[in-house]
Amino acid sequence: MISLTINGQKILTEHNKTILEAAEAAGISVPTFCNDKRLIPHGACRICLVEVEGVKNLPASCTTPVAEGMVIRTHSERVVQARREILSLLLSNHPLDCLTCEKSGKCKLQDYCYEYDVKEDIYGGEKYNFPIDASNPFYQYDPNKCIVCEKCVRVCNELQCTGAIGLNERGFLTHMGTPFEMGMKHTNCVSCGNCVSACPVGALLPKNKEKYRLWQVATVKTTCAYCGVGCQLELHVKEDRVVAIQPGEGSPNDGLLCVKGKFGYSFIHHNDRLKTPLVRKNGELREASWKEAYELIVEKMQQTKATYGADAFAGLTSARCTNEENYLFQKLFRAVIGTNNVDHCARL
Ligand code: SF4
Ligand code: SF4
Ligand code: SF4
Ligand code: FES
Repeated sequence: MISLTINGQKILTEHNKTILEAAEAAGISVPTFCNDKRLIPHGACRICLVEVEGVKNLPASCTTPVAEGMVIRTHSERVVQARREILSLLLSNHPLDCLTCEKSGKCKLQDYCYEYDVKEDIYGGEKYNFPIDASNPFYQYDPNKCIVCEKCVRVCNELQCTGAIGLNERGFLTHMGTPFEMGMKHTNCVSCGNCVSACPVGALLPKNKEKYRLWQVATVKTTCAYCGVGCQLELHVKEDRVVAIQPGEGSPNDGLLCVKGKFGYSFIHHNDRLKTPLVRKNGELREASWKEAYELIVEKMQQTKATYGADAFAGLTSARCTNEENYLFQKLFRAVIGTNNVDHCARL
């Protein structure tokens, strides 16, 4: 352990921490765009810079290791002024689109501009003028809103391990893009949407997003029902409708999802979805109560078993059920019905 001082507060921390980690552990909030505790520290955006006594420049706190006796200020006048300058430079090349931007309300650029009182483009220089890439079926990319934090690229490389995107061009024209600007659809992107979940601004957005603002939705934690991994989800629910999905943090998925968990939720409110059992009477399907449906199933199964024996049955269960449901299903077939004809769709 080493000791240092942050904003006048004496802090004990492990020697292998960064200044940002030590500050956060002490409850001191430092703004970040490119930092993500799952990724290798990168130091791209500089918004997390701090003042360290005896150091000439303002180092990025997310890449600077702590050292014994450091005296750090996270919100001194000099630091705040530097952050305002960084935000002004970002705004000078950003569409001031917050009124209608889908990210409004959960955008770090918007939040920090509010916090640091940066309102407008004071430089009036050239701006990006890139075409929007809507070629991926699930999400779209507006390079004009990209702040080049490179989080999406690192998530795709380091966590998703696909490497579909990178930084194109250099200098003013640097932006996240696809090889040879071929468009997302033509890369090896698997549409997991993990870059979309990580983007701190509105450059990467889901296409199927229904209109909502963050303060209009309740967040409901749940477990993805698509497979047995048990990824944690945060559903955004507006007036009883799921309007978006964010990956949950921590075990087992650590903020990541696959394409199904991230984007495949329109079935929840789909008109074709069955909400009550249907029973066929005289060749026509009609709605029935659960009691009526179960009684009919039991009756037909008893008749079939009496006529043809237990091996006339076969049960096929689903990877979308929980382990416990699958256990009960095979128990039902083996112990109650009396057949070993039971299998699982995952063996396809
Ligand atoms: S990305 Fe953020 S700052 Fe940019 S227009 Fe959208 S809400 Fe505003
Ligand atoms: S959707 Fe997934 S695979 Fe495609 S670019 Fe984003 S992180 Fe990479
Ligand atoms: S698209 Fe988003 S996450 Fe990727 S570099 Fe641009 S701002 Fe950062
Ligand atoms: S958060 Fe530290 S440089 Fe971006």
